[in-house]
Amino acid sequence: MNRRAFLEAASLTALASSPLARAAAPAVKPVRLGVIGAGSRGQEDMRQFLRVPGVTISAICDIYPPRYAQVNRLAGAEIPATASYTDLLSRHDVDAVLIASPVSCHAEHVIAAARSGRPILGEKALGFTVEDNQKIVDEVLRAKILFQIGHEYRYAPWVKEAVRRICRGDIGKPTHVEACWNRNGDWRRAVPSPDPGQKLEHLINWRLYRETSGGLGTELGSHHIDLANWIFGEQPESVLGTHSICIYHDGRTVGDNVQSVFQYSGGRRLTFSSLTDNAKSGNQLWVYGTEGSVQITIEDATFFYEKKRSNQPTADKPISKTIVERGVVTGASYSTAGEMPYRGPGERVETGPAGDPTLDSIRSFVEAVRGEHGIDADVHVGFRSGVACSVAHDAVFSGNRTPIPKYRDSASLA
Ligand SMILES: NC(=O)c1ccc[n+]([C@@H]2O[C@H](COP(=O)([O-])OP(=O)(O)OC[C@H]3O[C@@H](n4cnc5c(N)ncnc54)[C@H](O)[C@@H]3O)[C@@H](O)[C@H]2O)c1
Repeated sequence: MNRRAFLEAASLTALASSPLARAAAPAVKPVRLGVIGAGSRGQEDMRQFLRVPGVTISAICDIYPPRYAQVNRLAGAEIPATASYTDLLSRHDVDAVLIASPVSCHAEHVIAAARSGRPILGEKALGFTVEDNQKIVDEVLRAKILFQIGHEYRYAPWVKEAVRRICRGDIGKPTHVEACWNRNGDWRRAVPSPDPGQKLEHLINWRLYRETSGGLGTELGSHHIDLANWIFGEQPESVLGTHSICIYHDGRTVGDNVQSVFQYSGGRRLTFSSLTDNAKSGNQLWVYGTEGSVQITIEDATFFYEKKRSNQPTADKPISKTIVERGVVTGASYSTAGEMPYRGPGERVETGPAGDPTLDSIRSFVEAVRGEHGIDADVHVGFRSGVACSVAHDAVFSGNRTPIPKYRDSASLA
């Protein structure tokens, strides 16, 4: 669609929301969405937005034209489309903006949308660089708009309940989070040919190149970092990490596996590992506390409790030489009782069927836009994981333990 047709379509949509047309509309306050970045996540988000009563899509912006027909198909209507986010933001029929462009574009897109004064649902990670993360928070605070980050697991009922129980002390003091997201696949997307100058390769496979991607740690690990931040009640202080290209020697410049260790205050830690050649452990995390552990997966959460510590050695207590657990000798060194992995069923968090956290998070965003409540996964939540992703990505290249800055005091804002 050319610019004139795009702007004419804006007046048609305005007509469609005239008092006459509204008479037949449902009683909920309409929310008309503009979308910047209509690729795979943008389309998934749009599908979920359209399941929320009263939500319509006014227009999309994407620089890759094949997206336009894909969006028309999913919406079942011709959606005005443009390659210019300025044109999208100049429409009068956009009440809220979804931003699902690649992470390296988030700062430009979020800042422009914030300046237009609309509420924003911004996909994770918040920003690409430390500076981008800072600038996005500055602008969102300056514009005083609603901003929700795409950390949908904050809205998953079993995750919310597990974190609530952890925070009230059910596993004692949480000290370590061990997280992984493993897959078996090269993380590559098909690219149409011919592709002179590999322009489409870089547009479509932006995740594989350092200039545009934070690698597995950002694309996958940002969710785990966010959950660890939530559990520990703060962002990490520093990170060290490593990565390599182990299997997919195909020109990519980010690792096909990554391991990072995030240091929180008081010696608490998150370790994150991601493999792309073996999916066995999937996407999950374990939270370890002084009195128990929790396994959180993308469908459930299960609590396990430690045995009471009754075997503390005392000076006059004989040191046992042989320890047998469940018929197996576990060792003869000092106090090794309880080292067999616990394999019981645990205590599952019962919050009903898993459902879809993306739908839950989007429904909550729409309610916030309608003024029904505030935002849980706000821009500060986004900053605390986003900045950790940015620094962790640099740290796997440098190999250095690297401090993670806090959001600078916004008192200096104009
Ligand atoms: N919350 C989640 O669970 C989740 C899941 C997947 C992806 N994501 C995030 O969503 C974002 C998009 O990921 P994706 O998988 O949809 O990527 P994608 O490549 O499928 O889609 C990105 C779209 O943005 C378009 N685009 C690129 N540059 C643009 C520009 N300058 N202006 C306008 N459009 C532009 C591309 O053409 C593409 O259609 C990323 O930040 C990613 O981390 C979040």
